[in-house]
Amino acid sequence: MARIALFIFSILICGLRAHDSTRCDYFDSVDLTNARKLENGSYVFQGILIPAEYTFKHVENQTSIRGCVCEIKPCINLCSPAVDSQGSLSWDVKMKDGNVVNKHLEDLFALQPGSNMQCDWYYDFDPANKSEDMWELLENGSLAVPHAKPSPILPKQMYCFVFHVNNGTLIAKNCIRKIRPYDFPQNYTQIGYFAVMAAFLWLSVISYILWKTLTSKGSHCLLAETGCKKYKLYVWGTATVLLVVSVLADNFVSKSKWKPNFGAYSGWIATDSVSALIYYYGPMSLLIFGNITMFVLTAVDLIKTGITIQIKSV
Ligand SMILES: *[C@@H]1O[C@H](CO)[C@@H](O)[C@H](O)[C@H]1NC(C)=O
Ligand SMILES: *[C@@H]1O[C@H](CO)[C@@H](O)[C@H](O)[C@H]1NC(C)=O
Ligand SMILES: *[C@@H]1O[C@H](CO)[C@@H](O)[C@H](O)[C@H]1NC(C)=O
Ligand SMILES: *[C@@H]1O[C@H](CO)[C@@H](O)[C@H](O)[C@H]1NC(C)=O
Ligand SMILES: *[C@@H]1O[C@H](CO)[C@@H](O)[C@H](O)[C@H]1NC(C)=O
Repeated sequence: MARIALFIFSILICGLRAHDSTRCDYFDSVDLTNARKLENGSYVFQGILIPAEYTFKHVENQTSIRGCVCEIKPCINLCSPAVDSQGSLSWDVKMKDGNVVNKHLEDLFALQPGSNMQCDWYYDFDPANKSEDMWELLENGSLAVPHAKPSPILPKQMYCFVFHVNNGTLIAKNCIRKIRPYDFPQNYTQIGYFAVMAAFLWLSVISYILWKTLTSKGSHCLLAETGCKKYKLYVWGTATVLLVVSVLADNFVSKSKWKPNFGAYSGWIATDSVSALIYYYGPMSLLIFGNITMFVLTAVDLIKTGITIQIKSV
């Protein structure tokens, strides 16, 4: 019992930690492990002061400190592997007021190393050869590509830059992701999620049956019996609903923080984000809580009946 309680407790703690350690979207943060740390806990990344409250520890890798730099300055991504990112490069940037100003990119933007990006392949924009590939860098870090479909504005997670500081060129690459439902690795993650949830649901069915059977609460329905369709319906139905909800959320919720992110960061759903509480730790904790309740009820009932039996036998 103590072990089960400890297990639940650690899962809840894990969920809570996931909740408050993720200060921002993972894709809006940078690794600060090698950045300069100030005495008051702030960090300096590319000359940008990142206060301590903008930092968080990566839940799955506690040695990795991350900073929400994109909340302080607009970010642009460098393609991975980043080429020659040390040097400074000036480029024409279209400001909010419509003026185009030649600026050092470091002055306007924080440069995120490309390892943050999840692309299946890259399309190199070639404005010198193709007029439809003309692009303009906007002040907020988005890329304006008037001929791009479906939207002429590519947010920063949809493209990346390769700097060639020696000849002053900047190559923009469109980050192409396959349409999610047809993405195999992601489907495997979704099948895994479905299986784990179903396993936990079956556990709750087993506790329920044990409770019903061991206490004198009636039906002695065992799994093998045909009369137990309702359990199958409950398990496969609930697991399907959970899967459908999280797949829909993955495709239609725009903020990555609230998405389950199947296979986006790892071969699993993102367990280090607030979303894990909704799609993973939340349902699991509920099931475990239910199991514990039934366990306690059974134990209490057994102890009570045990006492009456003893009294009778005396
Ligand atoms: C931390 O120190 C830096 C440099 O001394 C200063 O600019 C910054 O305001 C300080 N931050 C806080 C939260 O005190
Ligand atoms: C954890 O983060 C540190 C710092 O970024 C990195 O050097 C290390 O390789 C990471 N470890 C794992 C297991 O990812
Ligand atoms: C234009 O395209 C051709 C091949 O299609 C390529 O060889 C050439 O380098 C391109 N020019 C520039 C400036 O990229
Ligand atoms: C950046 O600016 C463009 C044009 O003003 C706008 O359409 C786009 O939504 C902005 N993107 C973000 C992330 O604010
Ligand atoms: C600039 O230099 C890079 C190599 O550093 C090269 O690949 C690229 O083609 C060059 N671009 C132009 C326009 O010369």
